[in-house]
Formats: sequence, structure tokens, C-alpha cells
Amino acid sequence: MSIPWWRDAVVYEIYVRSFADASGDGVGDLPGIRRRLPYLAELGVDAIWLTPFYPSPMNDGGYDVADYRDVDPLFGSLDDFSALVADAHAHGLRVIVDIVPNHSSSDHAWFQEALRGVGRDRYVFRDEPNNWQSTFSGPAWTQLDDGQWYLHLFAPSQPDFNWRNPVVHEEFLSILKFWLDLGVDGFRIDVAMGLYKAEGFPDVEDQSFMSVSPIWGQAEVHEVYREWRKVLDGYPGERMAVGEVWTDDPADLARYVRPDELHQSFNFAWLQAPWSPTAFRTVIDDTLATVPFATWVLSNHDVVRHRTRYGTEDPGAGLPRAKAALLTMLALPGSAYLYQGEELGLPEVTDIPDEDRQDPIFFQSKGTLPGRDGCRVPIPWSATGASHGFSPEGVKPWLPQPSVFADLSVEAQEGDEESTLAFYRRALARRRDLLKEIPYNLEWLDSPEGALFFTRGSLICAINCGLEPVRLPPHTSVTLASGPLKGDLLPPDTAVWLHAE
Ligand code: GLC
Repeated sequence: MSIPWWRDAVVYEIYVRSFADASGDGVGDLPGIRRRLPYLAELGVDAIWLTPFYPSPMNDGGYDVADYRDVDPLFGSLDDFSALVADAHAHGLRVIVDIVPNHSSSDHAWFQEALRGVGRDRYVFRDEPNNWQSTFSGPAWTQLDDGQWYLHLFAPSQPDFNWRNPVVHEEFLSILKFWLDLGVDGFRIDVAMGLYKAEGFPDVEDQSFMSVSPIWGQAEVHEVYREWRKVLDGYPGERMAVGEVWTDDPADLARYVRPDELHQSFNFAWLQAPWSPTAFRTVIDDTLATVPFATWVLSNHDVVRHRTRYGTEDPGAGLPRAKAALLTMLALPGSAYLYQGEELGLPEVTDIPDEDRQDPIFFQSKGTLPGRDGCRVPIPWSATGASHGFSPEGVKPWLPQPSVFADLSVEAQEGDEESTLAFYRRALARRRDLLKEIPYNLEWLDSPEGALFFTRGSLICAINCGLEPVRLPPHTSVTLASGPLKGDLLPPDTAVWLHAE
């Protein structure tokens, strides 16, 4: 059997609002992405994942969809989308789009009808609320003037669909086909574990955002993905789906990627692990033991950027660790998801003024939680200018960029062989070559304290998470290192790829 393209793919997440603004309104858009495709092809990724670009009031940055079959004018048009897909394919890049089936926007035609009392069974309406809390803070129920309550596990402007109603199934099958017909290669499924809520809406003690929660993570959800898989398999060209499944149980994750369900599921355990060889090893072992096709991710548009996470105690350690983690991730079996800007070594922006913040989490928590704006600051393309080349000159971007973005811009790093960008390009290019010769499985090697060594055929990967340098395992040559080596020693916060003897 030939290896499907997504098994080892490196997928680059584009948070559309923050990647590149061609129209000059301070917000990223599809034509902006189209112009930057050569950059992505040169970076060496295999696919792009676009966050939602559908018509939306943008209360949750587009994860509140008002119309699932169109493009918001903020981002362009359906013609722009088709042109983007065609150009991406011409550059050898696949295109994955985000699908949001747990909830719509309250501006969606169905919810507007529901407000008038029509078709409320497409959403979750009740005469009495229960104690469920919104993932964004505050109650998960909002009462209408006529006394009924509707469920929203996120913002009040994101009413949850009722997946116990077959009409919702039919609607989403049709939406999938709409985008597949336009040539998309796959879907990233938002809140994939969330669609079915516990029967009877019991009060709960544990309000966690995890898959095996008493609120969601219900077994019926798997039937949805079996239906979707049939649709995907009906199209030529290995169309795929990856689920956003938050869980602390790898066995639960595995249920989403059974042969007749999703192709992949995000593996957030890697992203949640601390900087520790034992934590990394546990995550890797658990993942490889439970899922047929692994995925790995260090950052995305919902979490603090990993450079900053790894530098909590020592900010200077953030970037070296981020590069070492990347090299390790790219050596693991399976597919890797990158988040825009990590190839520049962007940190989380922690000092966004309150008046500039946009994330509903900030508002719903009444400012007690900062929200996710800090990882969504627009990409700096150039070292100077009002938006660092994100927007046309003179235009202010939708979130302010900090001054450190000048030195981290693409322009500042381009041509500098020591830059983070150059390191990412080298790592991705070497990985492509290596994949032609190495097996899928990894084997652990004996590792000194603080370090992890593993091998896949001719590749050895070594990472040192400890405080002291460690001796490199036997090898014939050094393929790539995330930082300077000291002779035969691997310094702390460094990873290396070696050619095996
Ligand atoms: C997912 C998205 C996140 C969004 C939420 C609600 O977790 O990644 O950005 O806010 O779903 O749609």
C-alpha cells in the first residue's frame, strides 16, 4: 500500500487574520496568503491549514460561522479561495480548511429562525439550564426573552448545534461536499469531541475541557466521523480529516482514528508536556502505542507560544529549547503541525494593552484571563514600517506588534544562515530527504540522565533537556543541530540529528 501524503506531512497552520493583509484593512486575508505561497513552499512544508475564513461577526475570530459556504468579505471571496487553492497546488502545497460543527454563530440563519421560535431543535434549547460552564468562563446557558435557554459551550454568540437531529448531519455532509468540490485536501475539525452532549443534561462537578468529560466526549460522536469518512473516501486524491480532540487519555484519542473514522487527531499531550525527558518519553511512548498515525504539535492559535512556555523560568532558554523541541518533533514518526511565526522564533506577546485585546476569553472572564491574542499578533514580514510589512504601508494591524518583531521579521532573518528561519528551512529540507530512507518506527537508545536518544534506521535523534552536557551516541556524521555542539558533547537545551554508524 502506498503511504498516504498526510502520514508524514508537515502542516503549517495559518491563522488567517494574522498572516498577511493584501486589502489594506489591517486584517489578514486570502489574497495575502496567496502572495506568500512562495515563502511557504521555500520553507518546505507540505500543506497549509487555514483557520475559518467564512462569513462571521468575528466574535471568536471566525470560529463563529454565520454561513458555512462562503468567504467573509474581510478575507476575500470564493473566487479568491479558488485561486488560492489552485496556486497552492501549483506550489505543491495541499490545503486543509477548518470546519466548525459544534456550534454556529448566533448570526447564522438557523439561529435567527430559532430566535423567532422556528426550528429550535437544530440547537440545544431547554426550559431550565443546568450548571454547565462555558469553556470561555461564565454559564453555558443564555435565556431568551420568551424564557427558554440555549446552550453555548463557548461564547453566548456561539450556540451549540443539536447533533441528535438528523438535519444537522445532512447539513454538514453537504458543507463538506461543497468544499471538497472546490478542491480542498482535508478538514481540521474544531472541537471534534464536543458535538454530542450527555443525555439528560446532568449537572456535573468536573467542567474540564477534556474529551472524556461528563459533558461531551459522548460515544455517538464517532458515528458522525464514520459518515464523514465515507464522504472523504468518495473523492479522489486522499482527502483527509484531522480532529481537534482535547483529552488526557491516549486510548480515547485512538477511538477517533479508527480505520473508518478520522485520519488523524491532534496530540496535545506533547504541547502540554513540561521540558523534561521523562515527560517527553511518556508522551511519545503513549502516542506510538495507541494511535496508528501519530501527529505532533508545539504551538497553535489557542496556546501560549512554545518559545515563551519553555522560557518561563529562564527567558533565555526559550528559543534554544524551542529549536531543540522542533528538531525532536520532526524526527518522530508521523505528521507535524507548525504554527505560523514559530519558524521566526516569535514569542508570545504578553503586554498587549487591555483596550487592544480582542479575544472573547478576555471579555467573558472580565479581564481575569488574558486570552489568546498574544499568540495571534500579525506576522512581521519586514523589519520596519507601521505593520512590519503585514499590511500595505501606513496601515495599522488589528493587534499591535511589539518592537522585538523588527529583529524577528522575515526580512531580518532572510539570508542569515544562523537565523531561526534558516534553521527551520534546513530541518524541513533534511527531513524530506530522510523520510525516503528511514522506517516509520523508532527505537530508544540508552540515554544519559537528562537526555533522550532514539533512532529510526540511519537517523539518530538526541535531545538534552538536562543541566549538564552529555556525550553524543556513536555516529558517523552530524546531520543537523539545533545549536552549537561542543566537540563530542551535546550541550543542555540542544538537539541533534546524527547519521548512524
Ligand atoms: C477551538 C478553536 C478555538 C475556538 C474554539 C471555539 O478550540 O481552536 O480557537 O475558540 O474552538 O470554536
